Amino acid sequence: MSFILAIDQGTTSTRAILFRADTTIAAVAQEEFAQHFPASGWVEHEAEDLLATTLSTCRAAMEKAGIAASDIAGIGITNQRETVVVWDRESGRAVHRAIVWQDRRTADLCARLKADGAEALVTERTGLIVDPYFSATKIAWILDNVPGARARAEAGRLAFGTVDTWLLWRLTGGRVHRTDATNASRTLLYDVHRGAWDEDLLRLFRVPAAILPEVVDSSGEFGTCEAGLFGGAIAVRGVAGDQQAAMVGQACFAPGMVKSTYGTGCFALVNTGETAVPSRSRLLTTIAYQLGGRRTYALEGSIFVAGAAVQWLRDGLGLIGEAGESGPLAEAADPAQDVVLVPAFVGLGAPYWRPEVRGALFGLTRSTGPRELARAALESVCFQTADLLEAMHTDWPEAEAHRPVLRVDGGMIASDWTMQRLADVLGAPVDRPEIAETTALGAAYLAGLAAGLYPDPARFADRWRLERRFTPAMSAESRAARLGSWRAAVGSLLGPPG
Ligand code: G3P
Repeated sequence: MSFILAIDQGTTSTRAILFRADTTIAAVAQEEFAQHFPASGWVEHEAEDLLATTLSTCRAAMEKAGIAASDIAGIGITNQRETVVVWDRESGRAVHRAIVWQDRRTADLCARLKADGAEALVTERTGLIVDPYFSATKIAWILDNVPGARARAEAGRLAFGTVDTWLLWRLTGGRVHRTDATNASRTLLYDVHRGAWDEDLLRLFRVPAAILPEVVDSSGEFGTCEAGLFGGAIAVRGVAGDQQAAMVGQACFAPGMVKSTYGTGCFALVNTGETAVPSRSRLLTTIAYQLGGRRTYALEGSIFVAGAAVQWLRDGLGLIGEAGESGPLAEAADPAQDVVLVPAFVGLGAPYWRPEVRGALFGLTRSTGPRELARAALESVCFQTADLLEAMHTDWPEAEAHRPVLRVDGGMIASDWTMQRLADVLGAPVDRPEIAETTALGAAYLAGLAAGLYPDPARFADRWRLERRFTPAMSAESRAARLGSWRAAVGSLLGPPG
């Protein structure tokens, strides 16, 4: 029993990673699955695809490493957050495709709730804002649009879950309906201060309490998978939303530590310890992890386009053949050109939260070419990170005092140019860890902690290894000029305040 199996069920692919007792990686398997876009701004996944890719990647990883279920001390699940699955408790089948976190179909409902003045209560209790990004309005949409669903939900015949909960239900043969506090904290229905589902919010969003899972610690006994699935029973012992798992994998256990993950979007979280810090800058107050019944909080900045900007260079513009070409192309850009991309392809996330705004390019000249566009795309990710960190410092001045270093992970950190530019734009060091699989490592750690295979947080933190530190090298003057161009560009899209 010296392995931990981490399941990382993400937005575009599912990964299974087997970790050894020393937290090194024994095997990885990954599979993509179909994205469904039934209408503009709508994004759905087949819930069965999420399960099928979970099963096949887990089996593939076990086969690659040549190990059996009896060698695995526990499973850790980490997942795309906020995405909603509603299923029939009897049949175990989803009543509708999963509605993905990126889906904007409930924008009008959110606008109405805000106009009615509901946001203050929502923010006070959940630490979030009223936005289609979160689960609550998506649940209500399914209950209102699938014939008979609302009545069946009220009668206790349907169950809701974020993706962790859906997988856990099916892996345990419908015996366990549970989630962890980090996932619950993204639903708009959970009081993050009391650690409980909130009746006022359930009423506001019209979600029946009968469909909700039980909320537990991020590390502990979640349930045991059906023995037939992996050739033997394996216990699920850790669960956390993917950004929170990355925070754990980066060992950001001390207040003030910050991590930023660069996937499709970018999510930066600063650990605020046992204090749920309210945000004045429209960041989110969220649960970073819950261990031994104690909640640790974070302030989170979420932006929707990071790696997606590189995909746009590749698939939309055809300027590069693969993501790795973007850095060298950007490096060759003309320093005299001040081209800025605001990649608001799906609106702007934190700290602006303007779903209706769309992207724009500024500063084009006759000599602007692929190199300048590549630089603008990569720099846009750095500028957005700078906005998030500045908002964190405004909301929680202690953040600056603690450790002004950013730990990074996710696909984009492979680009040295981007990481150097990030350090330059932030005016702060950027630390790239040896283990890039921090999300999966975080889930594995939570499971391994419960299984007694991995050490306590402090000793786990000692194992974190720096691969490379990027130190700011840009002059203060250039930095201010670059950030000034970015802010002017964003400002012109936002229009006059108020
Ligand atoms: O909040 C959404 C986030 O959890 C999605 O992460 O890595 O699946 O794009 P990812």
